[in-house]
Amino acid sequence: MSDQEIHEGLEGITVAETRLSFIDGEAGELVIGGYPLSELGGNATFEETLYLLYNDRLPTQSELEEFSDELAQYRSLPEGCLEVVRSAGEAGVVPMDALRMGAAAASLDQDGEDPERDKLVIVARLPTIVAAYWRARNGEEPLEPREDLSHAGNYLYMLTGEEPSDAQVGGLEAYLNTVVDHGLNASTFTGRVIVSTESDLYSAITGAIGALKGPLHGGAPGPVLRMLLDMYESGDVEGMLREKLEAGERLMGFGHRVYKVRDPRAEVLSSAAESFYQEDGDSDFFELAKEVETEAVDLLEEYKPGRRLDTNVEFYTAVLLHGIGIPDELFTTTFGIARAGGWTAHCLEQLENNRLVRPRGKYVGEKDRTWTPVDER
Ligand code: CMC
Repeated sequence: MSDQEIHEGLEGITVAETRLSFIDGEAGELVIGGYPLSELGGNATFEETLYLLYNDRLPTQSELEEFSDELAQYRSLPEGCLEVVRSAGEAGVVPMDALRMGAAAASLDQDGEDPERDKLVIVARLPTIVAAYWRARNGEEPLEPREDLSHAGNYLYMLTGEEPSDAQVGGLEAYLNTVVDHGLNASTFTGRVIVSTESDLYSAITGAIGALKGPLHGGAPGPVLRMLLDMYESGDVEGMLREKLEAGERLMGFGHRVYKVRDPRAEVLSSAAESFYQEDGDSDFFELAKEVETEAVDLLEEYKPGRRLDTNVEFYTAVLLHGIGIPDELFTTTFGIARAGGWTAHCLEQLENNRLVRPRGKYVGEKDRTWTPVDER
């Protein structure tokens, strides 16, 4: 089989049909469940987006209420899971490790496997895991979830102990909707590979969290925020950007492997951030972010002509989540909370028409070695 063609990173390989999301990197287009992101992102609640992914249509009012109630009833963690997460917080492990440990233990009170139920249990519990970990890490007692708040609202409440404003909830929902699904990215594919063996959803999502943790996937909104805060302090946007580019550094929040124009998620997140900061935030910080974006895109054209580097999802993720009050250390776990919607929907889609994922490797090692006993080596 020496003529086997290698597709490193599976680049360009199509392995499944999906109705969940569509990406056109040249046109800067992202469609989720049939809706262009611009239609869905700022309009839907996260519960509506989840329902859409699971059912391929938006719910009626009564369906939405029933779905939201069912989801909310799974939020509390089983005692053993809470203990794991609390220990993770007290030990000060990194947030994505705590999320992985919590997800693995989230099935403790569930009887047998039922993918339709398990997808809801997982999505409902990830925010509780992150919030309980965060409070334990800061020496605070984890809070019981509140069933009267929305998925997004309850997450913010469990982090801070305070009921969030409508602007905070709306901003977070826009974020969760925007990043809920994005084709067969590494973590989503990981989940699909795991359920393709007919393993369970908790295993799949635990694996997906592991894949999302890596810096090549979980992204860099933390560094974007640090860059913006530095510029906010110094006020010298152009000078600081030029300094980075002269030093050969990459500007965080710009450039994308797939999108060669402005990432459509940046569009939705910048509008959401604008609305949020107008109502509830430090509008000077938002104005600075806009200035940085414009300046950076111009300078990238000057320093990297023809590379088509534009704003990516991470730029306004940092601006929006920071405004809402999510600590930057929790940016990637919050991404996981959102993407769990896509992960679980993809797992169910894989199971609908399953075929074991089993690619091949091209062997390049020796073939004729003869055994040497250990004392003769
Ligand atoms: N700032 C400055 N130069 C850049 C940047 C940037 N942000 N991104 C790419 N370039 C340059 C790069 O140096 C190279 O120049 P040259 O040809 O002179 O060597 C050229 O553009 C092409 O770069 P590349 O590495 O081949 O492009 P890629 O498709 O592999 O990179 C990327 C994509 C996202 C890794 C990269 O743009 C980058 O490092 N951006 C900064 C980090 C960042 O914002 N990451 C979050 C990405 S969004 C994640 C998601 O969608 O989940």
